[in-house]
Amino acid sequence: MTDGLATVRAALRRALASDHREARAMPAAFYTDPELAAIEAEHLFGKEWHCVGRVEEVAEPGRFMPYRLANEPLVIAHGHDGTIRALSNVCRHRGALIVREKGRGRRLLCPYHHWAYGLDGALAAAPGMPERGDFRVAECRLPEFPCEVWMGFVYVNLDRTAAPLAPRLAGLEALVAPYHMEEMWLGWLGEEVWETNWKAMVENYMEGYHLTPLHKTTLNALNPTALARHIPAGEHWFGYAVGFPADLPRVTAGHPDLTKEQSDTCVMAMVQPGGGIGLAADYSSFLCLQPEGADRVRYKAGVLFWGDDWPRSAVDRAVELFHETMAEDRSVLEPMMRGYRSAHHESGPLAPPWLEGPILDLARYVGRRLLPVMEEAA
Ligand code: FES
Ligand SMILES: [Fe+2]
Repeated sequence: MTDGLATVRAALRRALASDHREARAMPAAFYTDPELAAIEAEHLFGKEWHCVGRVEEVAEPGRFMPYRLANEPLVIAHGHDGTIRALSNVCRHRGALIVREKGRGRRLLCPYHHWAYGLDGALAAAPGMPERGDFRVAECRLPEFPCEVWMGFVYVNLDRTAAPLAPRLAGLEALVAPYHMEEMWLGWLGEEVWETNWKAMVENYMEGYHLTPLHKTTLNALNPTALARHIPAGEHWFGYAVGFPADLPRVTAGHPDLTKEQSDTCVMAMVQPGGGIGLAADYSSFLCLQPEGADRVRYKAGVLFWGDDWPRSAVDRAVELFHETMAEDRSVLEPMMRGYRSAHHESGPLAPPWLEGPILDLARYVGRRLLPVMEEAA
């Protein structure tokens, strides 16, 4: 075991043993160690449920989209039987990637030699290929992975023995159900790559401490640090809440199921490990993190809107604010990797739970999942 992994292991043990009053930031190796990134790829991203996007992206039967999860090329396909499936996107012939971009049709056609698969993953045609003892068209199919739709999001698990997602999120669902994310419409969808560690992105998305200082002229007007509070973490998710100022003009108060207090509160939740939801009554955002090693993250992001009261200009302004806010976060999170590589960096104490509670929640989650694996390997 490298020094970096040994340091991380000690810090994770401490995080599991300490309470919020004595919590400390994680050491630099937590964000930079390539061995840890490989363990995460196998044991977090290879075994947990991951949000891969919104159900609208594959809204009707016949629609499909590619997605990469932990180096595993996938295609999410809405079959003509009405089922949304997560299939391997690797051709069973010689391994070409079948789907490169979103599309619609009756077949998934491999561009190389035109083997064609149904949207259920079964091979339908293999031009010029004779059937023989070790090859029957009808028996050849793309591997399929567990796939569920939760609150309008598509979730996939690469572990075919995984327990279902919905019961794991029952506690979070009770908190977010009245906002009816499944009824919100997608106003913007995009993808970016940041040169930072995925856990630094999770921490940033999940703490209210930086809202006022870093987002002074942007998000601070909507969700100032002073209105943040910690939500006790669940086993498979964690989060915090942050209020809106009482006099803030909003386009809509949201779904009638919401109480006034819920309508005036934004819930920031992370479905572990990397499915972020920034949920508010009027409009919401989400992130699907796809780490590419220790210091690079690809992510899909979107902005969702509730109801029909939105003028185009208000939609554009909300999306613009999302971009401005993300750019401010990026301006810290990318250079921070240089800070983590300093020989003189020593991590400091964390602020109280209402400000930085989710940072400890993340460390505890990683500790629960990875310490047994790391200890076995030591
Ligand atoms: S690799 Fe797909 S058809 Fe040959
Ligand atoms: Fe931020």
